[in-house]
Amino acid sequence: MRGYSRVLVTGGAGFIGSHLVDRLLGEGFEVVVLDDFSSGRMENLSGCFGRDGFVLVRGDVRDRDVVRKVVEGVDVVFHLAALVSVPVSVENPVLVEDVNVGGTLNVLKVCVDVGVKRFVFAGSCAVYGEGHGVPRREDDVLDPISPYGVSKLAGEFYCRVFYRVYGLETVVLRYFNVYGPRQVYGPYSGVISIFINRLLEGRPPVIFGDGNQVRDFVYVKDVVEANFLAMFSKNAVGEVFNVGSGRCTSINELAGLLIELMGVDVKPVYSDPRLGDIRYSCADISRARKVLGFEPKVSLREGLLETIAWFKENYGRKTA
Ligand code: UD1
Repeated sequence: MRGYSRVLVTGGAGFIGSHLVDRLLGEGFEVVVLDDFSSGRMENLSGCFGRDGFVLVRGDVRDRDVVRKVVEGVDVVFHLAALVSVPVSVENPVLVEDVNVGGTLNVLKVCVDVGVKRFVFAGSCAVYGEGHGVPRREDDVLDPISPYGVSKLAGEFYCRVFYRVYGLETVVLRYFNVYGPRQVYGPYSGVISIFINRLLEGRPPVIFGDGNQVRDFVYVKDVVEANFLAMFSKNAVGEVFNVGSGRCTSINELAGLLIELMGVDVKPVYSDPRLGDIRYSCADISRARKVLGFEPKVSLREGLLETIAWFKENYGRKTA
């Protein structure tokens, strides 16, 4: 495996990070997880305890000493630890800057000091800002509309600069709307977990605005695959890639599909548009296809069925 044996996943107890950890362990890597459990959950790692090569460290990405300790001896770092809520970033932009930018810079610097081979960054489509009806390409103008988007943009620029200046092999992945099992359900969670949980309670989905706003929903296991490709691809170094499904779905279509799949006899309810809501956010994934060989495998229908099954089993486990 290109000589990599030990990897670090920051934010490894989170929704996306924990799926990545499962896959890495499954493929025989030694995996160190750094998580402060501010939004990560111990139960996301329940399949990992006792497995060979699994190490969990509770700590903050801003803490130089703890980061130094976990990065030592590691070949590849997947940096997913972040404050991920847009509304939280609006309420507390300074904190989000501190964690998302300061934390990223801290981890990057230690990676250079220690001689890590590769650094894969969890970026966001939030760096693009408002869309104009065409799928986003990596070289589009970047115009974030939230402090969260700015923090992710700063993080990815640091990655690129660390490659140019220090030669650290960084790869930036811009995630679109990721969904799947273990996604948090709460007031700030993604629309899919909110709609599924409302339908499980027999309540209609509430659509903000006319429901014609569109998103690119990408299943978490496809995102994990993109991370694997980013770890190994030679040509990915210093680059940035959209990670989406390449398909657009309106919120009306999503609500209709979930109602059908869950067999609940309700109709969506319409409510006021959400302040600052982006109308159009879809990914052009041709660069990821070409350079990484990325091909999303899970259709929205299949991914939703798996997510519904998980929420049914874990129903009632609400965390904000
Ligand atoms: C998502 C990300 C955010 C990222 C942004 C980039 C999540 C939770 N958020 O925000 O981190 O910065 O993409 O553009 O993944 N909706 C309803 N009813 C609901 C909930 C939502 O109609 O009950 C609508 C929203 O108004 C929105 C769409 O569904 O139009 C998607 O909302 P959401 O899942 O919160 O994600 P984004 O706003 O796209």
